[in-house]
Amino acid sequence: MNRCVSLSGTILISILLSAPLAWAANPTGYGSAGGEFNIKIPRVPAAHLAQAKALKVPIEPTPEILEEGKQIFLGRGGCISCHGAEGKGDGAAAKNLPIQPRDFTNPKFNDYRTPGEMMWVLKNGSMGQSGRVPGTGMLPVVKPNGFISEEDGWKVLLYERSLGEVKK
Ligand code: HEC
Repeated sequence: MNRCVSLSGTILISILLSAPLAWAANPTGYGSAGGEFNIKIPRVPAAHLAQAKALKVPIEPTPEILEEGKQIFLGRGGCISCHGAEGKGDGAAAKNLPIQPRDFTNPKFNDYRTPGEMMWVLKNGSMGQSGRVPGTGMLPVVKPNGFISEEDGWKVLLYERSLGEVKK
């Protein structure tokens, strides 16, 4: 199980490092150490934004669901490798990335993103589709382009949002 997770993590990172990031001129802040790219800018392209924002979470964030989400985050989702054990964006693989992973413990993040926008990123990645943020190491994780189910995606994103809520 652990071996499987680290193997999929290794594959993800090799794909990432071998794919040139699609961005003509790097914007300010790109590649600077220890920084997230401006969280106020939506990652969803303008044409899909209203639809993504309107998407409702189909499950309740009960303690049981949040615990399941945590296990996906730490386990088969492999999120821990970049987002870190506590979701602060300081995972072991993060230092190799040109843009730092999301810090889910920042309470402001939940104000800037709806769960529906997060689901869009889980399905499509944050690959520069909006044209306002360069491609990042956040690859699609939810099927068909990713490897976890949509239901698992909702659980893990509810867990991620809960990390910002407790600090409020
Ligand atoms: C290879 C490293 C890596 C892995 C593995 C990874 N992420 Fe990310 N993630 C990132 C980076 C980098 C960002 C910042 C992207 C950006 O700034 O647009 C990010 C951002 C996000 C965001 C915020 C998107 C937004 O709208 O700002 C969500 C949600 C997210 N990740 C969820 C997950 C989940 C869930 C998993 C596990 C199933 C996961 N990530 C695994 C690197 C990773």
